[in-house]
Amino acid sequence: MNFIKVKTYEELSQKGAAMIAALVVNKPKAVLGLATGSSPVGIYKNLAAWNKAGYVDFSEVTSVNLDEYLGLKGDHPQSYRYFMQENLFNHVNIRPEATHVPNGCAEDYAKECEGYDALVESLGGTDLQLLGIGLDGHIGFNEPADHFEKATHVVDLHPSTIEANARFFNSADEVPKQAVTMGMLSIMRAKKILLIANGPAKKEVLEKAFNGPITPMLPASLLQLHPDVTVIYSEQ
Ligand code: GLP
Repeated sequence: MNFIKVKTYEELSQKGAAMIAALVVNKPKAVLGLATGSSPVGIYKNLAAWNKAGYVDFSEVTSVNLDEYLGLKGDHPQSYRYFMQENLFNHVNIRPEATHVPNGCAEDYAKECEGYDALVESLGGTDLQLLGIGLDGHIGFNEPADHFEKATHVVDLHPSTIEANARFFNSADEVPKQAVTMGMLSIMRAKKILLIANGPAKKEVLEKAFNGPITPMLPASLLQLHPDVTVIYSEQ
């Protein structure tokens, strides 16, 4: 595991964006696994600026996002589809049809989940999976459980996750209680993993995830078994 410690969120965002940009420059048809949350916002800002400046071209890139809240349509301001549009897709030259986010309002979730795994499979997995980490060790929305969930699935969000994400809603009551998330298999199939974490609040969970036992009670700990993981941690 490659652990990069930086001082500021700006540095994290520059280094993270540089890794993604370098990949896309080397492989214009790259498949990017993308994430939401507050941590990737700076990376997306840099990628948008570098795209505008002509340094990196997204015209042949395909993206697959990790997760989506159940019951939120793509035009809901707190949906992850909306987040991706606002923070990245609307600002780079990626083809809209090449951007994939799980559908949080599917009629048939079993079908939606199967279809999402088939999509990732048909793309040959992701070249790079960007990940944040939840305070309880979740990646995507793979929450602590008694086993690792391999496939894309519907998940009940943990109270701590609902509380952590309440800051984006008017109140905790408005946070959806369920989500659909890519499972651990598609995440682990990524050729490269880039996990970003900023601020002292994430220090303890990072320590446990990468130096503690591998356990489904801390889903990110499975990343210890991945051959190419970079963690960028900013102290502030
Ligand atoms: C959400 C997302 C995760 C993300 C986590 C951490 O729960 N589903 O993919 O990693 O939040 O978010 P933040 O970066 O805001 O701490």
